[in-house]
This record gives sequence, structure tokens and C-alpha cells, in this order.
Amino acid sequence: MLEPPEILLLGPGPSPSSPYVRRAQSKPQLGHLDPAFVPYLDYAQAGLRRLFGTENTLTLPLAGTGSSGMEAIVANLVEPGDRVVVGVHGVFGVRFADSVRRAGGDVVEVVAEFGQSLDPDAMQAAIAAGPTKLCVVVHAETSTGVLTDLRPIAKAARAAGALFAVDCVTSIGGVPLNFDELGVDAAFCGTQKCLSVPPGLAPVTFSERALERVRARTHPVPFYFDTKLLNGYFGAERSYHYTAPISMIYALVASLEEIEAEGLEARYVRHREVSAALRRGLAPLGLTPLVPVEQATPMLTTVCYPAGVDDAAFRKHLRQQHHIEVGGGLGPLAGKVFRVGLMGHGARLENVLRALAAFGDALAAAGHTPDVSAALAAVHGD
Ligand SMILES: Cc1ncc(COP(=O)(O)O)c(C=O)c1O
Repeated sequence: MLEPPEILLLGPGPSPSSPYVRRAQSKPQLGHLDPAFVPYLDYAQAGLRRLFGTENTLTLPLAGTGSSGMEAIVANLVEPGDRVVVGVHGVFGVRFADSVRRAGGDVVEVVAEFGQSLDPDAMQAAIAAGPTKLCVVVHAETSTGVLTDLRPIAKAARAAGALFAVDCVTSIGGVPLNFDELGVDAAFCGTQKCLSVPPGLAPVTFSERALERVRARTHPVPFYFDTKLLNGYFGAERSYHYTAPISMIYALVASLEEIEAEGLEARYVRHREVSAALRRGLAPLGLTPLVPVEQATPMLTTVCYPAGVDDAAFRKHLRQQHHIEVGGGLGPLAGKVFRVGLMGHGARLENVLRALAAFGDALAAAGHTPDVSAALAAVHGD
């Protein structure tokens, strides 16, 4: 029998699941239309609305990983020839632009260097420069650790009559989202980051404005992602669209129950505090974060390697000697940085202490002289 080893998941996702979530996944199966399953759907949809900060009726956990949520938004909101402004400052902005292009959209990219924030004035100018139908941005860029301020972009999109869609795969459950207040028309995420549910669901939400746009389309929407058909199952009717992944929804509900018990604000504070503790511990090891704290997302910290440390050897040491996974750099940052995720159930002080001790050991193995005691002491602050 195959048996996975116990690895502490401190990379960019998946994050570790709690024992409660893991137990929920092994509950007995129910039919996806069984009256006893409907309360799970109701609970999941209500909990997701709270996390997205929306009252959108069409808010649901789509089957598929985070990228399927992106595809659902593109499939419903982009028609061939539509002008779409895409913020590109990391791998997932590149992916969003690619997906829009594949749907025939006329992509206008607003680019920032990997590790930098998007310039809101450049976004506004691009939106206003033509008949923009849609603007999309990644809220927390997992490839760099930059958190985008959505407010000015949402405002510019609304002023131009464009829809605004957000990738909140890494931010949901880790920082506050208030999408109705901001004027976000569609958003998608995944479950494997700050929700600490295994990968396999893509919660999505569509505003009434977005659904009006779908109703006015001249091109059909692919079957699986069609919001009208999704509404059949996830709306009042509860009729068959596809066979919902029952165990994944049990796990999502368990996670939402845990979030409810902890309290949203307490959860956001925990993510902030744990990330600050990690940052305090990096300097004594001779490590520096890539992104200044004001622009950084708390759940994902990108750390620059000191000269002479080999990325693959460093991460192999962590995995083999300490049973810890962290992520490597992506795109232009490959080999230059590693990425530390403190997300959901993984965002705990004991994990920060274990990680810093392991980083120190891996740096020592690479010939450096990190001050591990000072790093561990720094975690607790002054
Ligand atoms: C910001 C962001 N967007 C999109 C995705 C794609 O999600 P998935 O890999 O679950 O398809 C990820 C995955 O890490 C991500 O971090």
C-alpha cells in the first residue's frame, strides 16, 4: 500500500489540513441531490459569501482546481474581440492573460516587474484608453508575494463601465475581502491555501451585473462553466448539472465551520502576526524578504537567497532532513528566491520556529553562519 510521508507544507500551497477537515473528508458518501446533502451546499455557499464579502446569489464551490474558477470567469465574461485589461506582475497574471487570449479576448496587459506592485494609475489609464469590457487582477500574487490594492482599480473599472474580476486564490481566508463594497463583479479562488482544504474546488462568485453581461452574450458558454446551468444545481432548484465532489464539499464545510469558530477577524490577525514573526526571524539568518512589508501579502513570503546558496540543494535539505516543503521561485525569480507559505491551518508560531531552525541548518550546510538562536528569539518580538 502506498502511504504518504508526513511533510510540513510551508510552500505556496497546498497548505496542511486540520484533523477536523481530514476526518470530514472520510464521511460516508451521499447522493449529490440527496436532501441530507443540500444543507452542506447551503452552508458552503453561505460561508463563501462571508469570506468573499458578497451577497451574490451565484456563489459556489466549482469542481476543479483554482484554474477552473479562472476559466469559468473567462468563459462567461469574455467574448471574442472584447477588450480586457489584465494586470500582469507575476505568473498568475500571465496565466489570466493567456486564458483571456485563448477565449478570443483582446488583451491589454499592464505589466510590473515580478516582485513589484501594479501601478494603479497605469491600470486606470489602460482601462480608460478604449472600450474596456473587463479588467482582471490577481489579488495576492503567489509567485511573488505581492498584495494588490484593489480599490483604485475597482473604481476605475466601474467608472469606465467595465466589469472587474479578481483572482483571490491565495488571499481568501487570510486577509479581509469586501468585494460588494469594492465593486468586484466576479472572483475565483482555490481551497488549498488559506482555507486549508485539499486542492480540488474553485469557489467562484458572480455579481448580478456580471450575470446581465452573460445574458446579453451572442456566443454560447462552454457547458461545464455555464452560469445558467451552474445555477440549476447551486440555486434554489438543486437540479443536476454535474456530480458534485461530495467529500470535497464535506471538507470545505468543515473548514468553514472552523473559520466561523475562530472568527474572521481573529484569523486575519493570526495570519498577520505569524508572517511578522517569520520576517523578524529572517534577518539573523542573513535572509531578506523580496517584498517590503507594506506591499506584501501576509500568507506568502518570498525570501531572497544569500549569494552562493543553491536553490535545489537548499530545498532538498529542508525536505529530506526536516520534512518541510517550501516553494522555489517562478519565472525570472527561479533560483533567486524561495517561497514560504503560512496559510490557514499552517499559519502557526510553532511552524515558524520549526521553519527558521531548518532554514538555519540548510544555510549552515551551504557554508553560511546563520544565528539560529537569535532568529528563534526574534520570533517572539520585543
Ligand atoms: C494566485 C493564483 N492563481 C491561480 C492559481 C491556480 O490554481 P490551481 O493550481 O489550483 O489551478 C494559483 C495556484 O497556486 C494561484 O496561486
